[in-house]
Amino acid sequence: MTDYPTLTLNDDRQIPQLGFGTFKLENDAATRAVSTAIDVGYWLIDTAAVYENESGVGKGIGDWSDIFLQTKIWNDRQGHDETLKAFDESLKRLGREHVDMLLIHWPCPDKGKFVDTWKAFIELRKAGKAKSIGVSNFREDDLKRIVDATGVVPALNQIELHPTFQQREMRRVHEEMGVVTQSWSPLGQGEGLDQSAIQRIAEETGKPASAVIIAWHLQHGFSAIPKASSRDHIEANFAALDLELTEEQMAAIDALDSQDGRMGPDPSEFC
Ligand SMILES: NC(=O)c1ccc[n+]([C@@H]2O[C@H](COP(=O)([O-])OP(=O)(O)OC[C@H]3O[C@@H](n4cnc5c(N)ncnc54)[C@H](OP(=O)(O)O)[C@@H]3O)[C@@H](O)[C@H]2O)c1
Repeated sequence: MTDYPTLTLNDDRQIPQLGFGTFKLENDAATRAVSTAIDVGYWLIDTAAVYENESGVGKGIGDWSDIFLQTKIWNDRQGHDETLKAFDESLKRLGREHVDMLLIHWPCPDKGKFVDTWKAFIELRKAGKAKSIGVSNFREDDLKRIVDATGVVPALNQIELHPTFQQREMRRVHEEMGVVTQSWSPLGQGEGLDQSAIQRIAEETGKPASAVIIAWHLQHGFSAIPKASSRDHIEANFAALDLELTEEQMAAIDALDSQDGRMGPDPSEFC
């Protein structure tokens, strides 16, 4: 992983900053895309039980045992014992003995099971089956509840974050608590690429619009996991690693934030 940008997690492990997302890729497509991404140079792969592509992702990773692999426990498998079972099933599908990062996919606050799920995660970390543990779509109160109950702060919170939905409040909370911010839908699901500020910076830098957006995430200190299907897109996004935005360019993207920019579900309701 020489020269690849990494972040230090609160458990002292390193996480590669740029990762590859696999939502909506079915098993065969996931195998192809993941092996292409690794060939291009990505060191982190993100999947989830609910994507139904863990076996394809595992095949795509093949013998690359150093790849930082993340998966997530789906909402209907929350609770202590169910989580342990669900995770074993994920490991079997992935064809691995451990993952590098295990996440609670959504808090599902009305179910009231995420504290018990988190207790199972702590056991899995002790057993070495999940090297690091974190959460996804957690709000400030959810984070505080699991920390109050267990004393263990999640290493990472994977949240919706892109130029038109910048999550400034959650970023502040993460900084205070020592939680790494990881951006899902970092490209705004591909819809933010033709905004004029992004196009202008792409022209100035000679890099693809997608690389401009990903460079903005990396320069803010987030981990980002863009998904792409074709080698062209996978390479275009990877070009972010050769791009340094000026303060003016960062500020122009900061200015794209929008109050109603959320594209995915609201974590206080979704389960
Ligand atoms: N924790 C959660 O609840 C949660 C929720 C959503 C997503 N995620 C994770 O975050 C990952 C990324 O989010 P996402 O897939 O929703 O959205 P995204 O990465 O923001 O955008 C993906 C879309 O952008 C397109 N795209 C990618 N590179 C491009 C390029 N260079 N030029 C033009 N278009 C490009 C892709 O098209 P092609 O496929 O055709 O290349 C796809 O339609 C997911 O795959 C998943 O791993 C997590």
